Amino acid sequence: SNQPLIAPSLLSADFARLADEMAAVGGDSGGGADWLHVDVMDAHFVPNLTLGLPVVQSLQKSTDIPLDCHLMIDDPDRWAVGYAEAGVHNVTVHAEAADEPVGLAKNLRAAGAKAGLSIKPNTPLEPYTDVLKHYDTLLVMSVEPGFGGQKFIGEVLEKTRRARRMVDTGHLNLVVEIDGGINTETIEQAAEAGVDCFVAGSAVYGAEDPARAVEGLRSQAIN
Ligand code: DX5
Ligand code: ZN
Repeated sequence: SNQPLIAPSLLSADFARLADEMAAVGGDSGGGADWLHVDVMDAHFVPNLTLGLPVVQSLQKSTDIPLDCHLMIDDPDRWAVGYAEAGVHNVTVHAEAADEPVGLAKNLRAAGAKAGLSIKPNTPLEPYTDVLKHYDTLLVMSVEPGFGGQKFIGEVLEKTRRARRMVDTGHLNLVVEIDGGINTETIEQAAEAGVDCFVAGSAVYGAEDPARAVEGLRSQAIN
Protein backbone atom coordinates (compact mmCIF):
# COMPACT_ATOMS: atom_id res chain seq x y z
CA SER A 1 0.00 0.00 0.00
CA ASN A 2 1.52 3.31 -1.10
CA GLN A 3 -0.61 6.46 -1.32
CA PRO A 4 -4.06 5.73 0.10
CA LEU A 5 -7.00 6.18 -2.24
CA ILE A 6 -10.14 7.88 -0.93
CA ALA A 7 -13.44 7.06 -2.63
CA PRO A 8 -16.43 9.13 -1.46
CA SER A 9 -19.69 7.21 -1.84
CA LEU A 10 -22.48 9.05 -3.62
CA LEU A 11 -25.01 6.97 -1.67
CA SER A 12 -24.89 9.68 1.02
CA ALA A 13 -25.10 12.55 -1.49
CA ASP A 14 -28.19 14.49 -2.57
CA PHE A 15 -29.51 12.44 -5.52
CA ALA A 16 -31.19 15.51 -7.01
CA ARG A 17 -27.81 17.25 -7.30
CA LEU A 18 -25.40 14.45 -8.25
CA ALA A 19 -23.22 16.54 -10.60
CA ASP A 20 -22.73 19.19 -7.91
CA GLU A 21 -22.05 16.53 -5.31
CA MET A 22 -19.36 14.96 -7.52
CA ALA A 23 -17.80 18.38 -8.08
CA ALA A 24 -17.80 19.00 -4.32
CA VAL A 25 -15.14 16.31 -3.80
CA GLY A 26 -12.95 16.89 -6.85
CA GLY A 27 -12.03 19.07 -9.75
CA ASP A 28 -12.52 22.80 -9.28
CA SER A 29 -13.26 22.55 -5.57
CA GLY A 30 -9.66 21.48 -5.00
CA GLY A 31 -10.85 18.43 -3.12
CA GLY A 32 -9.12 15.21 -3.82
CA ALA A 33 -11.34 12.20 -4.33
CA ASP A 34 -9.29 9.54 -6.09
CA TRP A 35 -12.32 7.50 -7.12
CA LEU A 36 -16.03 8.19 -6.85
CA HIS A 37 -17.89 5.23 -5.42
CA VAL A 38 -21.33 4.58 -6.94
CA ASP A 39 -23.57 2.04 -5.19
CA VAL A 40 -25.89 0.23 -7.59
CA MET A 41 -28.62 -1.70 -5.72
CA ASP A 42 -31.43 -3.72 -7.26
CA ALA A 43 -33.76 -4.43 -4.31
CA HIS A 44 -33.03 -8.16 -4.82
CA PHE A 45 -29.41 -8.79 -3.90
CA VAL A 46 -29.86 -6.16 -1.17
CA PRO A 47 -33.07 -4.77 0.34
CA ASN A 48 -32.63 -1.31 -1.15
CA LEU A 49 -32.89 0.35 -4.56
CA THR A 50 -30.65 3.16 -5.83
CA LEU A 51 -29.75 3.79 -9.46
CA GLY A 52 -28.65 1.91 -12.54
CA LEU A 53 -26.87 2.13 -15.86
CA PRO A 54 -28.66 5.17 -17.36
CA VAL A 55 -27.73 7.30 -14.35
CA VAL A 56 -24.17 5.96 -14.31
CA GLN A 57 -23.80 6.80 -18.02
CA SER A 58 -24.78 10.38 -17.22
CA LEU A 59 -22.48 10.57 -14.19
CA GLN A 60 -19.62 9.31 -16.33
CA LYS A 61 -20.14 12.22 -18.75
CA SER A 62 -20.28 14.75 -15.91
CA THR A 63 -17.00 14.07 -14.10
CA ASP A 64 -13.30 13.42 -14.70
CA ILE A 65 -13.01 11.51 -11.43
CA PRO A 66 -12.70 7.75 -12.10
CA LEU A 67 -15.95 6.01 -11.18
CA ASP A 68 -15.89 2.98 -8.90
CA CYS A 69 -19.19 1.15 -9.41
CA HIS A 70 -20.18 -1.27 -6.68
CA LEU A 71 -22.86 -3.54 -8.11
CA MET A 72 -25.02 -4.96 -5.33
CA ILE A 73 -27.20 -6.78 -7.83
CA ASP A 74 -28.24 -10.26 -8.82
CA ASP A 75 -26.92 -11.70 -12.07
CA PRO A 76 -23.88 -9.44 -12.51
CA ASP A 77 -22.77 -11.86 -15.26
CA ARG A 78 -25.52 -10.29 -17.34
CA TRP A 79 -25.35 -6.62 -16.28
CA ALA A 80 -21.85 -5.66 -15.21
CA VAL A 81 -20.20 -5.34 -18.63
CA GLY A 82 -22.57 -2.49 -19.54
CA TYR A 83 -20.94 -0.40 -16.81
CA ALA A 84 -17.49 -1.15 -18.21
CA GLU A 85 -18.69 -0.16 -21.68
CA ALA A 86 -19.98 3.12 -20.20
CA GLY A 87 -16.38 3.99 -19.28
CA VAL A 88 -16.50 3.18 -15.57
CA HIS A 89 -12.94 2.85 -14.25
CA ASN A 90 -13.52 -0.01 -11.80
CA VAL A 91 -16.56 -2.31 -11.90
CA THR A 92 -17.05 -4.40 -8.76
CA VAL A 93 -19.40 -7.37 -8.58
CA HIS A 94 -20.30 -9.52 -5.59
CA ALA A 95 -18.70 -12.94 -5.22
CA GLU A 96 -21.98 -14.20 -3.71
CA ALA A 97 -23.90 -13.19 -6.85
CA ALA A 98 -21.57 -13.99 -9.76
CA ASP A 99 -22.03 -17.36 -11.49
CA GLU A 100 -18.82 -17.27 -13.54
CA PRO A 101 -16.56 -14.76 -11.79
CA VAL A 102 -13.44 -15.59 -13.82
CA GLY A 103 -15.18 -15.19 -17.17
CA LEU A 104 -16.84 -12.04 -15.90
CA ALA A 105 -13.51 -10.48 -14.90
CA LYS A 106 -12.16 -11.23 -18.37
CA ASN A 107 -15.20 -9.60 -19.97
CA LEU A 108 -14.89 -6.51 -17.77
CA ARG A 109 -11.22 -6.12 -18.66
CA ALA A 110 -11.92 -6.71 -22.35
CA ALA A 111 -14.42 -3.84 -22.15
CA GLY A 112 -11.69 -1.59 -20.77
CA ALA A 113 -12.45 -1.56 -17.04
CA LYS A 114 -10.69 -2.74 -13.94
CA ALA A 115 -12.48 -5.72 -12.41
CA GLY A 116 -13.43 -5.78 -8.74
CA LEU A 117 -14.73 -8.60 -6.57
CA SER A 118 -16.57 -7.84 -3.34
CA ILE A 119 -17.20 -10.09 -0.36
CA LYS A 120 -19.81 -9.49 2.34
CA PRO A 121 -18.72 -9.42 6.01
CA ASN A 122 -19.42 -13.13 6.57
CA THR A 123 -18.03 -14.34 3.25
CA PRO A 124 -14.59 -15.92 3.62
CA LEU A 125 -11.65 -14.84 1.47
CA GLU A 126 -9.85 -18.13 0.89
CA PRO A 127 -12.36 -19.83 -1.48
CA TYR A 128 -11.79 -16.93 -3.87
CA THR A 129 -7.99 -16.91 -3.88
CA ASP A 130 -7.69 -18.41 -7.37
CA VAL A 131 -10.59 -16.36 -8.75
CA LEU A 132 -8.97 -13.18 -7.40
CA LYS A 133 -5.92 -13.72 -9.62
CA HIS A 134 -8.17 -12.47 -12.43
CA TYR A 135 -9.27 -9.33 -10.56
CA ASP A 136 -7.75 -5.90 -9.96
CA THR A 137 -9.64 -4.93 -6.81
CA LEU A 138 -10.90 -6.77 -3.72
CA LEU A 139 -13.71 -4.88 -1.97
CA VAL A 140 -14.08 -6.04 1.62
CA MET A 141 -17.49 -5.07 2.99
CA SER A 142 -17.28 -3.84 6.58
CA VAL A 143 -21.07 -3.51 6.91
CA GLU A 144 -23.89 -5.62 5.50
CA PRO A 145 -24.42 -4.13 2.04
CA GLY A 146 -27.57 -2.11 1.48
CA PHE A 147 -27.41 1.10 3.46
CA GLY A 148 -25.07 3.94 4.36
CA GLY A 149 -24.40 5.13 7.87
CA GLN A 150 -24.03 1.70 9.53
CA LYS A 151 -21.55 0.73 12.21
CA PHE A 152 -18.15 -0.62 11.17
CA ILE A 153 -17.79 -4.39 11.68
CA GLY A 154 -14.29 -4.72 13.14
CA GLU A 155 -14.21 -8.50 12.68
CA VAL A 156 -13.48 -8.02 8.97
CA LEU A 157 -10.06 -6.58 9.75
CA GLU A 158 -8.55 -10.02 10.22
CA LYS A 159 -9.70 -11.04 6.73
CA THR A 160 -8.35 -7.74 5.42
CA ARG A 161 -4.94 -8.48 6.94
CA ARG A 162 -4.91 -11.87 5.24
CA ALA A 163 -5.70 -10.22 1.91
CA ARG A 164 -2.87 -7.73 2.48
CA ARG A 165 -0.45 -10.58 3.20
CA MET A 166 -1.47 -12.42 0.02
CA VAL A 167 -0.78 -9.26 -1.97
CA ASP A 168 2.54 -8.56 -0.27
CA THR A 169 3.78 -12.12 -0.70
CA GLY A 170 3.01 -11.95 -4.40
CA HIS A 171 0.18 -14.45 -4.33
CA LEU A 172 -2.28 -11.78 -5.45
CA ASN A 173 -2.05 -8.42 -7.21
CA LEU A 174 -4.97 -6.38 -5.97
CA VAL A 175 -6.06 -3.02 -4.69
CA VAL A 176 -7.51 -3.84 -1.26
CA GLU A 177 -10.59 -1.67 -0.75
CA ILE A 178 -12.87 -1.40 2.29
CA ASP A 179 -16.47 -0.19 2.33
CA GLY A 180 -18.82 0.54 5.20
CA GLY A 181 -18.56 2.55 8.41
CA ILE A 182 -15.27 4.23 7.47
CA ASN A 183 -14.91 7.52 9.32
CA THR A 184 -12.43 9.40 11.51
CA GLU A 185 -12.94 6.80 14.27
CA THR A 186 -12.30 3.69 12.16
CA ILE A 187 -10.05 4.59 9.23
CA GLU A 188 -6.81 4.18 11.15
CA GLN A 189 -7.61 0.56 12.07
CA ALA A 190 -8.39 -0.15 8.45
CA ALA A 191 -5.17 1.51 7.30
CA GLU A 192 -3.20 -0.51 9.83
CA ALA A 193 -4.77 -3.69 8.42
CA GLY A 194 -3.35 -2.82 5.01
CA VAL A 195 -6.22 -1.23 3.09
CA ASP A 196 -5.27 0.69 -0.09
CA CYS A 197 -8.63 2.31 -0.91
CA PHE A 198 -11.19 3.64 1.58
CA VAL A 199 -14.84 4.17 0.67
CA ALA A 200 -16.63 6.75 2.82
CA GLY A 201 -20.23 7.85 2.37
CA SER A 202 -21.72 9.53 5.44
CA ALA A 203 -18.28 10.62 6.70
CA VAL A 204 -17.81 12.68 3.51
CA TYR A 205 -21.28 13.80 2.46
CA GLY A 206 -22.51 14.20 6.01
CA ALA A 207 -19.69 16.67 6.65
CA GLU A 208 -20.06 20.43 6.36
CA ASP A 209 -17.23 20.52 3.80
CA PRO A 210 -16.97 17.24 1.85
CA ALA A 211 -13.63 18.11 0.22
CA ARG A 212 -12.05 18.82 3.59
CA ALA A 213 -13.48 15.58 4.95
CA VAL A 214 -11.74 13.71 2.11
CA GLU A 215 -8.41 15.32 2.96
CA GLY A 216 -8.91 14.66 6.67
CA LEU A 217 -9.52 10.97 6.02
CA ARG A 218 -6.54 10.82 3.69
CA SER A 219 -4.17 12.27 6.30
CA GLN A 220 -5.44 9.77 8.88
CA ALA A 221 -4.94 6.90 6.44
CA ILE A 222 -1.30 7.90 5.87
CA ASN A 223 -0.37 7.90 9.57
C1 DX5 B 1 -23.34 0.11 1.58
C2 DX5 B 1 -22.53 0.75 0.48
C3 DX5 B 1 -21.53 1.74 0.92
C4 DX5 B 1 -22.09 2.94 1.64
C5 DX5 B 1 -21.14 3.24 2.75
O1 DX5 B 1 -24.00 -0.99 1.09
O2 DX5 B 1 -21.84 -0.24 -0.25
O3 DX5 B 1 -20.72 2.17 -0.16
O4 DX5 B 1 -22.22 4.10 0.86
O5 DX5 B 1 -21.68 4.26 3.53
P1 DX5 B 1 -20.97 4.65 4.91
O6 DX5 B 1 -19.59 5.14 4.57
O7 DX5 B 1 -21.86 5.72 5.45
O8 DX5 B 1 -20.94 3.41 5.75
ZN1 ZN C 1 -20.40 0.48 -1.75
